[in-house]
Amino acid sequence: FGYVNYLVEKDRKFILQTLVNGLSRLEYRGYDSAGLAVDGDKKNEVLAFKEVGKVAKLQELIDESQPDFTKIFDSHAGIAHTRWATHGKPSRLNCHPHRSDPTWEFAVVHNGIITNYKELKTLLEAKGFKFETETDTEAIAKLAKYVYDEHPDIDFVTLAKTVIKELQGAFGLLLKSVHYPHEVIAARKGSPLVVGVKTQKKMKVDFVDVEYTEEGIALPAERASQNVAIKKSGATLGAGLLAPPDKSLLHRSQSRAFLSDDGAPMPTEFFLSSDPSAIVEHTKKVLYLEDDDIAHIHEGSLNIHRLNKNDGTSNVRTIQTLEIQLQEIMKGQFDHFMQKEIFEQPESVINAMRGRLDVENRKVTLGGLRQYISTIRRCRRIIFIACGTSFHSCMAVRGIFEELTEIPIAVELASDFLDRQAPVFRDDTCVFVSQSGETADSLLALRYCLERGALTVGIVNVVGSSISLLTHCGVHINAGPEIGVASTKAYTSQFVCMVMFALSLSEDRASKQKRREEIMDGLAKVSEQFKEVLKLDQTIKKLCEKFKHQKSLLLLGRGAQHATALEGALKIKEISYLHCEAVMSGELKHGVLALVDEDLPIVMILTRDDIFPKSLNAYNQVISRKGKPIIICNTGEEEFPHDKTERIEVPQTVDALQGLINVIPLQLMAYWLAVGEGLNVDFPRNLAKSVTVE
Ligand code: G6P
Repeated sequence: FGYVNYLVEKDRKFILQTLVNGLSRLEYRGYDSAGLAVDGDKKNEVLAFKEVGKVAKLQELIDESQPDFTKIFDSHAGIAHTRWATHGKPSRLNCHPHRSDPTWEFAVVHNGIITNYKELKTLLEAKGFKFETETDTEAIAKLAKYVYDEHPDIDFVTLAKTVIKELQGAFGLLLKSVHYPHEVIAARKGSPLVVGVKTQKKMKVDFVDVEYTEEGIALPAERASQNVAIKKSGATLGAGLLAPPDKSLLHRSQSRAFLSDDGAPMPTEFFLSSDPSAIVEHTKKVLYLEDDDIAHIHEGSLNIHRLNKNDGTSNVRTIQTLEIQLQEIMKGQFDHFMQKEIFEQPESVINAMRGRLDVENRKVTLGGLRQYISTIRRCRRIIFIACGTSFHSCMAVRGIFEELTEIPIAVELASDFLDRQAPVFRDDTCVFVSQSGETADSLLALRYCLERGALTVGIVNVVGSSISLLTHCGVHINAGPEIGVASTKAYTSQFVCMVMFALSLSEDRASKQKRREEIMDGLAKVSEQFKEVLKLDQTIKKLCEKFKHQKSLLLLGRGAQHATALEGALKIKEISYLHCEAVMSGELKHGVLALVDEDLPIVMILTRDDIFPKSLNAYNQVISRKGKPIIICNTGEEEFPHDKTERIEVPQTVDALQGLINVIPLQLMAYWLAVGEGLNVDFPRNLAKSVTVE
């Protein structure tokens, strides 16, 4: 998160508070440590605060340190970060911002991973730089200083381009420097970055041109003559850095600035963030950066530069107006975001269907797919690719896709798909399902499929996210911001959107019409049925007391309900830390049955569908081993004697949608198990909402 004020007087207290608040909004992305850098009392002085733990700890540290809160800054640039460790354990030292040297000539905050940081480090160490942390990020700050020391006349953008050209991997970063006071560089490649703009007068431009002129500042010539390559395990280290200047660096880009009508500098504030949820309370005017964009904030203007000349991307960036409301990202009357999001599901599924499902006229319209739907109908297979919860939602709809479309369907975990370098062809349709749209594994798999010429579809929640931008077409699930790390409403909305996708693909199949209508009628009732299931909240809370002090839990499901079991087990593991294993009921007898006795807690999903008689086999196998399963069954189900089992009764819907209803008791179960253990539901240990590393 970054905050820049230009010709708007702010005291240090305000600046620090704005940065800390921004971090709190972003905390769900990573939260093992937090830090920020602002200007000090004297010229060229930087004040940095870093603390292990949550953002509240950073606030405590600032309060204890008692900097002069009253100092006024007419113009100022501050940067801040909340970390989810990739390289180096969570510690004050490893926490961002990172610096170029003890006087903080350059300070950087960074999301993502710099994969060639070891090479850069080796090179910079050979140049006399002393590294103090275990992070990859530190190399960026040191590299900036190296370039600056070599070329002290360099402007900030050329310097940033020189540095960024050397970085491999993924990043969303902010750079500030005492040499360029009140300026910030924001650059992205693979990690999201949004710039919010708040002007005191009405903004004159609502787009920013990105263009190139030939009159750029050439890098000093001596750079070309440097030619020290360090060899390590066969690779030439620092080859890029030490090679002659890249011609494209000579093309400096220009863009439109924010100026008042009379052309005079206009008081402006800028908010930089990896997510608009931290910006919306300040301004609704935002500009999403694209990969290889380098934004330069300088004297009230926002300039976007491209890393490479003529790389085929659009040269216009639009200022958009954010639609999300602040209350959407607040907890409201709930204790936790996860709880709020579970209870939002009756609304969020409606939002997924609004304007798309017309039950009366038996029609599904997915605008984002319109252009491609006939191509998809003719494809030779559909591959769903995702991670975590999003993978489970794909599993949940596989059956109905096969049934309605009669196209071969594969469901892949993004990481495994890449590990295998699985074959992909031009006539494949690859569907990327992701809440955040930023998950590194999914994003890499998307690039892999694009390279192979497949048609790509995104099923994404976050608008403007990388997956939504890079896919050919797609559907936004419109679930609203999901803050709790454990995904809940995104799962049900993905599910609904994918069912609508299958309905839309099968529109022209006469033999499927009856089935399609049955599913549409089912979808129309889902929201009301969600309200019914949510009434089970307190019953489930009570039931969870049974699991106290248990070490393990089995969750059984068959057919489409295997996906529900997988998703339920993931929820339980990730927030309550109770080991929970999802078992395909048909597989029980092939091994897992050995675990069953009168003590092992077991939850079985036994709602009615075509394979219900087979599911009963598993139930009987458990009962005859003295197991005492808790069953999730349809309301009024008579099959199970009340004395042998505890029951969670849920409304019945069409089999293809039953998983939507069945998952809710499991979400509630995970929630109450975690609360019962006194755990931090929204911020489970070791996890992050958006995993932007491989
Ligand atoms: C992380 C989160 C999971 C999520 C998965 C995929 O692991 O902790 O909750 O399901 O990423 O995220 P995506 O944003 O791609 O759906």
